[in-house]
Amino acid sequence: MKIKVYRDHDGMKNSRYDTFELEPKPGLTVLGALFQFQQNFDDSIAFHYSCRGAVCGTCAMLINKVPRLACRTQVASLLNGDLKIPLSPYPAIEENVEWDSKEEVLVEPLPHLPVIKDLIVDIGKFFDYYKDIEPVFKPADSTPEKERLMDPGSIPELELYTNCILCAACFGSCPIDDSDPEYLGPAALAKLYRFYIDPREENGIERLKIADIPLGWWDCKFHGNCRRVCPKDVPPLIAIAKAREQLEKEGEDL
Ligand code: SF4
Ligand code: FES
Repeated sequence: MKIKVYRDHDGMKNSRYDTFELEPKPGLTVLGALFQFQQNFDDSIAFHYSCRGAVCGTCAMLINKVPRLACRTQVASLLNGDLKIPLSPYPAIEENVEWDSKEEVLVEPLPHLPVIKDLIVDIGKFFDYYKDIEPVFKPADSTPEKERLMDPGSIPELELYTNCILCAACFGSCPIDDSDPEYLGPAALAKLYRFYIDPREENGIERLKIADIPLGWWDCKFHGNCRRVCPKDVPPLIAIAKAREQLEKEGEDL
């Protein structure tokens, strides 16, 4: 089989694709294939990784035109067509690259973020939007003598959002981030909702108002790509729909 990898040494000016062949052994991941590329063909190829266990979120890239974690995606499954994920279209996945999906795995950098080199993108914008929603716990009570007890009934819903590993796959898959680059994006909005529903928080609806702006809750068009690509099944669309409902209710009550 072949792996076709995006290469960029000069800020898109001299981009190209390099193709190399390897044995698709059972269990070989795209990240493993990139290591083989680096060790056997070209040690100048650049890519991000850390945990190699779908925990740190650093290895998200566009694989066969779908944002995925390279450490969790097995090359054999891609060639069998087992990992097909239909997405609402946006320019990065529609770009016409010559690529035989039955014989080759196509690996490109995560869309919507500037490429630094090869498969490494500058994730700064994603984290700027994340910081905008003030992702810190603001408790209602002063520091208790013992631990702050959690309402067990709230945990299942909270866990949907705390599972996020900040990989930015959703950000790279969202057609709105393409047309409105200032849109806060699915991960930041899902995290903001996570604080809103935390019963230990003091701010309640005030939290939601942080994103009560045209490029916040109201810019989503419910394409659903974010949920389809999320490696942790975080549901940003549910958070966005519920936040809008709460804000509309708050408006009616005034
Ligand atoms: S919501 Fe999912 S896809 Fe988006 S950053 Fe979090 S883990 Fe990654
Ligand atoms: S290397 Fe950590 S999530 Fe892939």
